[in-house]
Amino acid sequence: MEQKNKVVIFDTTLRDGEQSPGASMNTAEKLRIATQLELLGVDVIEAGFPAASKGDFVAVEAIARKLKKCQVAGLCRASEDDITLAWDAIKDAAFPRIHTFIATSDIHLKYKLKMTREEVLENAVNAVRYAASLTPNVEFSAEDGSRSDPDFLCKVFEAVIDAGATTVNLPDTVGYAVPEEFAALVTHVLKNTPNIDRAVLSVHCHNDLGLATANTLAAIRAGARQAEVTVNGIGERAGNTSLEEVVMSLGTRPNFFNEMTSIDTTRIYPTSRLVSMITGIMIQPNRAIVGANAFAHEAGIHQDGMLKNPMTYEIMKPETVGVNKNSLVLGKHSGRHALYAHISEKGYNLSEEELNIVFEKFKHLADRKKSILDEDIDALVNEGVLRGSEVFCLKYLHVSSGTTVCPHASVHLTINDRLVKGATEGNGPIDSVFNTISRLTGTKSELLRFTVSALTEGTDSQGEVTVRLSEGGIVALGKGSDPDIITASALAYINGLNRLEYLKSNPVVRLEAL
Ligand code: KIV
Ligand code: ZN
Repeated sequence: MEQKNKVVIFDTTLRDGEQSPGASMNTAEKLRIATQLELLGVDVIEAGFPAASKGDFVAVEAIARKLKKCQVAGLCRASEDDITLAWDAIKDAAFPRIHTFIATSDIHLKYKLKMTREEVLENAVNAVRYAASLTPNVEFSAEDGSRSDPDFLCKVFEAVIDAGATTVNLPDTVGYAVPEEFAALVTHVLKNTPNIDRAVLSVHCHNDLGLATANTLAAIRAGARQAEVTVNGIGERAGNTSLEEVVMSLGTRPNFFNEMTSIDTTRIYPTSRLVSMITGIMIQPNRAIVGANAFAHEAGIHQDGMLKNPMTYEIMKPETVGVNKNSLVLGKHSGRHALYAHISEKGYNLSEEELNIVFEKFKHLADRKKSILDEDIDALVNEGVLRGSEVFCLKYLHVSSGTTVCPHASVHLTINDRLVKGATEGNGPIDSVFNTISRLTGTKSELLRFTVSALTEGTDSQGEVTVRLSEGGIVALGKGSDPDIITASALAYINGLNRLEYLKSNPVVRLEAL
């Protein structure tokens, strides 16, 4: 068999992924995801957009300083100020990459940039030349590339490669492309950009027509060498190309693609769970590879075949992607050392004080739940320490409800460390808790969505609650987990309120707003 080609996996969960409505993350959460992405084996992590906000700058800088193996990219517009800021944030990385972009389609030139093609070309070249004076690792993206004039695209790529770009990226920014056409565009770029052999050709697809993965795979077949992806396909609007779909398609169909990646596929499922837990974005059960039903065989005929030989209906083994249902991790009698060892094996890097907090929560949970699974540990760390210093914090909750009782909740909260107490009734126990929290915090937010699911199997599972809140056009997701679903609901609501506070001071800047 021929030697396989390598596809560079460029993960933008922390940048384009964070642009999913409500998915904003604080620095500790971003660091945790970045650490996990490094363990997963991605080649490049786009850590953020440093010019977007102070919070983004700080997070990108922290990630750049922490990661030792993968490249860390900072996104910036094609302007000297943006590039300088991005460079300041990533310059301490082991392998920094500046990623600068400008739109090349006539629609964007006319209505957004109000620039001519010549001006855009000059701008792109100047930006790349300046970036290349700071680092030899420069990526240039032609925003809305799939709707750009192919010959102009090649002209821009040729000029930026001459100016020092080592990766040129062709985005389908609005998710408009279809596979055959997108592959033809990649072929056109490879044929008509004379110096393309001096750069890596990358693609970056959005999922507005549900074609992001198909377009990315078609582009790889046509010769693209880098795929820009996010975990669970999260991202702006309908999201980005999903990391797990691309990696597992290449891995499951080696004879067709003849491509390889550096991803440790057994870390895919834990990474997917972590991203969902931290961002609050749920994974739909029928989602490919990481959905709860991805390896469930309901139909009798399928079950029969599976028993005879799993290959009858299973194209991937669940273990290959790290789905290891009910893997017992720790129990009531596990000590501090076992917990600490497990936490650090999972890639968390917690201080003594943080470990103590998690251990306390672990003991409390182990008293109520027979076996503590991997998912429980992530939830403990997430609830316990990653959320950082927050405005609102739940201190006490008591609820009475039942067939003959009017539901009533009593809540103690701290608001910036000041203790407040209150009690209210409601239509049900959760309504009474939410009414009380809403009165105590004085929030003006509206609850758009409330969902409850089980974190693991069994009736002693932790309940996992997700809320979606909106205030003044800002949307925030909140997540909470606890064996008691009413407590989980209170934690989720408070998490959502904290995320709203964070978003008010660190708004996520969307590309279309630039
Ligand atoms: O979708 C897009 O065009 C982008 C670029 C900045 C790469 O996210
Ligand atoms: Zn994008």
